[in-house]
Amino acid sequence: MLFKQQPLLTQKLFVLGSLAIGSVLYLVARVGTLDRLQPICPIERRLPPPEHEQIPLRTLQFKRGLLHELRKGNATKEQIRLHNLLQQLPQAIIIGVRKGGTRALLEMLNLHPAVVKASQEIHFFDNDQNYARGIEWYREKMPFSFPHQITIEKSPAYFITEEVPERIFKMNSSIKLLVIVREPTIRAVSDYTQVLEGKERKNKTYHKFEKLAVDSGTCEVNTKYKAVRTSIYTKHLERWLKYFPVDQFHIVDGDRLIADPLPELQLVERFLNLPSRISQYNLYFNATRGFYCLRFNIVFNKCLAGSKGRTHPEVDPSVVTKLQKFFHPFNQKFFQITGRAFNWP
Ligand SMILES: *[C@@H]1O[C@H](CO)[C@@H](O)[C@H](O)[C@H]1NC(C)=O
Ligand SMILES: *[C@@H]1O[C@H](CO)[C@@H](O)[C@H](O)[C@H]1NC(C)=O
Ligand SMILES: *[C@@H]1O[C@H](CO)[C@@H](O)[C@H](O)[C@H]1NC(C)=O
Ligand SMILES: *[C@@H]1O[C@H](CO)[C@@H](O)[C@H](O)[C@H]1NC(C)=O
Repeated sequence: MLFKQQPLLTQKLFVLGSLAIGSVLYLVARVGTLDRLQPICPIERRLPPPEHEQIPLRTLQFKRGLLHELRKGNATKEQIRLHNLLQQLPQAIIIGVRKGGTRALLEMLNLHPAVVKASQEIHFFDNDQNYARGIEWYREKMPFSFPHQITIEKSPAYFITEEVPERIFKMNSSIKLLVIVREPTIRAVSDYTQVLEGKERKNKTYHKFEKLAVDSGTCEVNTKYKAVRTSIYTKHLERWLKYFPVDQFHIVDGDRLIADPLPELQLVERFLNLPSRISQYNLYFNATRGFYCLRFNIVFNKCLAGSKGRTHPEVDPSVVTKLQKFFHPFNQKFFQITGRAFNWP
């Protein structure tokens, strides 16, 4: 379209020239990041940690029970010292994505006796005010744990916030990063639905999804709409790859985590170098909810909050198709970089 008025020859030369310059620029940019873009070995084939590195199950369960007791009884300074309890910086962070299933993933990983979760989203790295409070402020937000346990936090805004990769890199350049994703169009609608519910609670009206996701002037997908932008996973991931090599990321399938959680959790255990300790016993299907619930032990179980299963509004099928087509090339790139492909349209 751009060249319509130009004579054919100039147009061809221009295209060839642009291609050549583009390739050179691409190669220059690529050489710097090439080592970070090596696809990781297929996720299913990662090996579990060797047996001698594994922590005996009984010790872990005993300690988890003790930790629980101490928490219930509001552990005193003396008890904290006596039991060698620490507030440790996270060794792994669930960085996103919003509406991908980050809460479910954190709660399920917390079934592992060697994992301790930070209950709140801390928003340390994405919020300038919090970040200015310093790393000790962050550490004090962490739960108490035993030295051999690992702490995990989740704040889904990290994935899409510009400054976050560099800040996390400064804290720990070898930290493990978990990203849980869902099919991008479904995720965008889910994102919209959550905002909509917030508006409805305040008796505010809100645009229809179709109006936000498609630019009515051009009839193209509206890439300024945040729910659309967040679903372009590869764009965000590529920003992270300027700091971290790709094998420090693990991609979790959010759709599968809900339908059949155990295999996904076992992949995460391996990625975190933890012995495989979460079992089918820890996850039971609640037919009333249509969801898995968590069983920590014979007395303690927990179902995720009801709002997590909210129904989505009906979206015009032509808009769904338009979005799916739009996300398709970005998805392909994402699969190529991460070495994990999904059955997305
Ligand atoms: C621990 O603290 C909470 C809140 O401060 C309080 O409600 C609870 O009763 C305390 N538990 C014990 C066992 O002292
Ligand atoms: C950084 O993260 C890695 C991976 O979880 C962990 O092994 C290491 O101890 C962490 N380093 C610090 C200083 O926390
Ligand atoms: C919203 O509207 C309903 C019904 O008109 C009313 O009962 C409720 O108090 C309103 N809520 C707010 C937050 O204004
Ligand atoms: C299953 O879900 C229903 C509805 O949320 C709840 O009332 C019930 O306690 C749950 N059952 C179990 C065994 O978790």
